Amino acid sequence: MTIERVFSGIQPTGNLHLGNYLGAIVNFVKMQDSHNCIYCVVDLHAITVPVAVWGGPDALRRNIREVTAAFIAAGIDPKKQIIFNQSQVAEHSELAWVLNCIARLGWLNRMTQFKEKAGKDRENVSVGLYDYPVLMASDILVYRATHVPVGEDQKQHVELTRDIAQKFNNDFAESIAAQGFGEAFFPLPEPVITGPATRVMSLRDGTKKMSKSDPSDYSRINLSDDADAIAQKIRKAKTDSEPLPSEEQGLEARPEADNLVGIFAALAGKPKPEVLREFGGSQFSEFKSNLVDLAVAKLSPITTEMKKLSADQAYIDAVLADGSERARAIAAETMTGVKDIVGL
Ligand code: ADP
Ligand code: NA
Repeated sequence: MTIERVFSGIQPTGNLHLGNYLGAIVNFVKMQDSHNCIYCVVDLHAITVPVAVWGGPDALRRNIREVTAAFIAAGIDPKKQIIFNQSQVAEHSELAWVLNCIARLGWLNRMTQFKEKAGKDRENVSVGLYDYPVLMASDILVYRATHVPVGEDQKQHVELTRDIAQKFNNDFAESIAAQGFGEAFFPLPEPVITGPATRVMSLRDGTKKMSKSDPSDYSRINLSDDADAIAQKIRKAKTDSEPLPSEEQGLEARPEADNLVGIFAALAGKPKPEVLREFGGSQFSEFKSNLVDLAVAKLSPITTEMKKLSADQAYIDAVLADGSERARAIAAETMTGVKDIVGL
């Protein structure tokens, strides 16, 4: 039986937001009770965009600390789980090369996130941005992880990871058996995409994902926002003029309403239908003031703790050093296996 092991990551690109929190971090926290979890600050992914965008070395170091602090402030226990940053475990990059030789060009050409991020100027993006999904596959597979909690936008990348794992297992089936690993070396990891907010949308435009890179600060709630900023952003959030419906099908074709109800449900830890039973027939002004209270109550303690922790550089560095060491031990064992299997 394979042990259940969770892996996931967040990029240290600044502006950690409510989408990252509800789509990913909340599930990271939940899974730690029942699984061995490895949570990674994926700094090698952060540098796939131009330096002017990720901000240079000082910003990167600060953002690595911020994501680490967010993990801990949200409730992940760094003594029981592994929290570390990707660049400190060289095996991620080493395995990525082997997996580059397994992944097919046609598979990468189908990745929608690359198409979105590259935009029209495709000749001028980094090779790293194109290869990002293979590095992500290696992040997961180097721990032979079985479960990957992510937001909906990462589903395709986890599916690619499964394809790469499967092809490696098939291409080297004989060697895998001969080396004593049985029928498969890599488990096929499952995406874990659950909860009422797997895709949090912009507060300004219900058709766009809430994102770190949206130029409008009012489009997202940052985990660093204080109570006033949270309140202002929610009050200004775009809505239609109808009252809230009392059933979920009433949210169809009302993306902004759907988004705010999903956010409320996720913060309250309730399913959406329950929220609608409570607020069906209410005007948005009333619903929003309840949402402000809830968001401030849930997020403010995290924000306060995050600020406190990220100011304590020695503590954060110690967490990352300890996490890297524990991660490296697992990754090194996988890499030895991979080399034996491939003949390297
Ligand atoms: P971003 O997409 O904000 O640049 P990352 O790529 O570091 O952030 O993603 C970190 C995690 O947050 C991933 O699991 C991703 O799916 C999740 N995530 C990002 N944006 C959202 C969103 N708007 N709604 C839900 N989950 C999201
Ligand atoms: Na993302």
